[in-house]
Amino acid sequence: EKAGFDHFMLKEIHEQPKAYRDTMRGRLSEDGTSVALDELTTITPEELRKFNRVHIVACGTAMHAGMVGKTIIEQLARIPVETDVASEYRYRSPIITPETLVIVVSQSGETADTLAALREAKRNGARVLAITNVVGSSVAREADDVIITLAGPEIAVASTKAYTSQLIAFYLFGLHYAQVLGTKDDAFVSHVLAAMQSLPEQVEKILAQSEVIKASAESISRHSSLFFIGRGLDYAVALEGSLKLKEISYIHSEAYAAGELKHGTLALIEEGIPVISLITQEDLQEKTLSNIKEVKARGANVFAIVNEGNEAEIAKSVDSVFSIPRTLAFLTPALSVVPLQLLSYYASLALGHDVDKPRNLAKSVTVE
Ligand code: M6R
Repeated sequence: EKAGFDHFMLKEIHEQPKAYRDTMRGRLSEDGTSVALDELTTITPEELRKFNRVHIVACGTAMHAGMVGKTIIEQLARIPVETDVASEYRYRSPIITPETLVIVVSQSGETADTLAALREAKRNGARVLAITNVVGSSVAREADDVIITLAGPEIAVASTKAYTSQLIAFYLFGLHYAQVLGTKDDAFVSHVLAAMQSLPEQVEKILAQSEVIKASAESISRHSSLFFIGRGLDYAVALEGSLKLKEISYIHSEAYAAGELKHGTLALIEEGIPVISLITQEDLQEKTLSNIKEVKARGANVFAIVNEGNEAEIAKSVDSVFSIPRTLAFLTPALSVVPLQLLSYYASLALGHDVDKPRNLAKSVTVE
C-alpha cells in the first residue's frame, strides 16, 4: 500500500500534485473567474460581510498552515486575522463575539485541543469554519461549515500533503472572501486561479530534483543543530520546515524571522552551522540577504531556497542554492515547503530513524 515507495511519508510527499488538484476540483467556476465554495451553507456571503475579525486556531503543522492563512486572508480580504495555537486559545480570554469567524484547521479533525477551542468559540457565539481532511470527524461534525481538503488518507506521522492541501483551502477561501467583500475583482481572481492550476506541475518539477535535496540532507544529518530563517511567508514556511526536521530526524533546529536573529540568537551561530534560508519573497530579499551576511560572517553554511531565475545572483551570498519554479509571491509556500519536506525525509533516512513513526509521537493527539 506504499505504492512502491519506501515510506508512507515519501508516498504522501509525491501525492501532493494530486492532492492540490483534488482540493481545487469542483471549487472553481466554469469560466475560472470565481471560487465556488458550495459547502459554505451557514457561512453565507451575508454572514461573511458581518464579521469584523477572524481567528485561526490549530496545532502543529495545521497551525503553520494557519499562519500562511492569516497572511492570505488579510492580504486578500483586508480583514484582521489572529492566529493561536489551540492549547493557548481558551486560556487567554480571547475576544470572541458573534462577529468573529473562527477557522479551525485539523488534518484528523480529532485533535483534543483544537476541538476544545472550537467548542469555546461556539459557546461565545462565534461561527466556526473547519478545514479538515476527514469527513465525519469530530471537528467536521461540530463546526458550522466545513471545507474538506481532499488530500486522501495521511498515514505518516509527519504531515505533508495535509499541510499543502490546507494551504490550497486557504487560498480558495481567501479568494472567495475577497470576492464577497469586493476587495478583489474577477480579473485578479482568475489570474490567481490560473497560477494555482500550475502548482501541481510545479511541485512535480521540484520532486524531480529530489536527489539534489538528498545530498544536502545527508550533509545536514551530520550536525546536531541548525537554523531555518525567512521573512514574511518564508518565515511561516521556515517554522514548518523546522518542525518537520525535528519530528523525524531528531536534529535540533529553530526557525527564526530572519530579522530577529540579531536580537540574541546570533550568539548561537558558529563555524559550520547550517542555516537554511528561504528567500522567495522578493520584496524582502535584500533584507534577508543582509541577515544572511550576518550569519555568514560568523561562519554559517547557508543553504538557500530561491525563485527560479534568482539563483546566480543569490549564489554570490550563500553556499548553495535550490530553486523552485516561479509563482505569485503569496502562492510560494505551496512550493517552497516541498524541498523542506524532502530534506527532513532524507535526513531521517540517513540517520536510520523510523521515518513514518517517529519516537514519542502519535498521528492524532487526542489528549489536551
Ligand atoms: O490532525 P491535526 O491536524 O489536528 O494535527 C495537529 C498536529 O498534531 C500535527 O499537525 C503535528 O504537528 C504533525 N505530526 C506535524 O507533522
